[in-house]
Amino acid sequence: MDAFFIDTKFYHLKMTKLSSEQLLNISQQFGTPLYVYNAEQITAQYKKLTTAFAETDTKFFYACKALTNINILKHIKSIGCNVDCSAINEVKLALMAGFEPANILYTSNGIHFSEIEEAQSLGVNINIDSLSNLEKFGEKYGHSYPVGIRLRPNIMAGGNLKISTGHDKSKFGIPADQLDQVLELVNKYQLFIQNLHIHTGSDIKDVAIFVKGIEVLFDIIPHFKELSSIDLGGGFKVPYKKGDAETDIPLLAQKVKEAFDNHPNPNGKHLQVWFEPGKFLVSEAGYLIAEVNVIKETTATTFVGLNTGFNHLIRPMFYDAYHQIDNISNPNGYVKEYSIVGNICETDTFAWDRPMAEIREGDLLVFYNAGAYGFEMSSNFNSRLKPAEVMVKEGKTTLIRKKDTLEDLIRNQVI
Ligand code: LLP
Repeated sequence: MDAFFIDTKFYHLKMTKLSSEQLLNISQQFGTPLYVYNAEQITAQYKKLTTAFAETDTKFFYACKALTNINILKHIKSIGCNVDCSAINEVKLALMAGFEPANILYTSNGIHFSEIEEAQSLGVNINIDSLSNLEKFGEKYGHSYPVGIRLRPNIMAGGNLKISTGHDKSKFGIPADQLDQVLELVNKYQLFIQNLHIHTGSDIKDVAIFVKGIEVLFDIIPHFKELSSIDLGGGFKVPYKKGDAETDIPLLAQKVKEAFDNHPNPNGKHLQVWFEPGKFLVSEAGYLIAEVNVIKETTATTFVGLNTGFNHLIRPMFYDAYHQIDNISNPNGYVKEYSIVGNICETDTFAWDRPMAEIREGDLLVFYNAGAYGFEMSSNFNSRLKPAEVMVKEGKTTLIRKKDTLEDLIRNQVI
């Protein structure tokens, strides 16, 4: 019975991933470089969350900074997920995609108060991350508009320091040790605090980190009588490398439930648990396909130069991030080591001495896990054009963003 269950599970996963043949066909149709997103994989990831947390009152907000194409936002909405925004334009995109303001969360950081005023006028949920903006909010709105507070729990977490946000040197949130100052403002302006938020980082595999965050919040919750939710942010890890683990979501759900069962809110009010997953929902759903322009044999290594670069996928150069790369044109080729590089006029390395099936000029390589912070962090460096994006959904492949043109590069230049 168990074996049957496992088989079914893997079969399902296989079905949601795009095959090399599908990716080859799509790139023939749309050209390369090309971002491809598989809507069904997003849905499958969302289902993992809702299934695991079925016994806890939970609300998931997709951290759309990972990928904001409006068609992806619409898909996210269609599966019942809410949306988390980190900038006012993300809020506006979410509204354009059809999200109700009540299902939009705006977690600001280091922004001018006018942006918070704009978010307030749009009626969305707001998390404030500085004493300064909290004071301005109190002065202007008092108790009239419920608001959340982003706290910095002073916990070190995340795949590397660049994506760690909850530690005691991080710019994010109001340090939990400044709680007295927060409470002073809350009392002074009779603030209506509806939510307490923490987000400790990205690529967090260890469930214990989330539990630690909850424990920090349990000490703080009793001070806020009108609280209706706590927000544990995002940061679930996805496997980038073969053999990598994903955050154990069922275990996390069990630990969260246990923690809340053991710590009923002393104020008697039920607390909903919010999460803001970005990578978890869209990372594996995205593929970047590129073509091999040149192969350069040197004494140090064999370079494979692609028609893409860190202008399209910056994660390897920016975070030393690992992305699996396959040669989908010659999957059974003799394995050799190659250094995969971009066409940007500065060092632009995707992988060094990586064993790959034999690569020839003209072959197509696919980068996996390119859905989160891939296109979204792309640029026009070297005056190169941003690639097109397509979405595969219900067997149909649709262009969801046209490739840039030269006109796009000069559109806002005053000539
Ligand atoms: N909530 C807040 C307040 C955040 O700052 C972030 C990510 C998330 C949620 C979503 O985190 P996720 O589930 O995606 O890990 N560009 C980096 C990741 C930076 C994450 C920034 N904040 C990367 O490519 O690894």
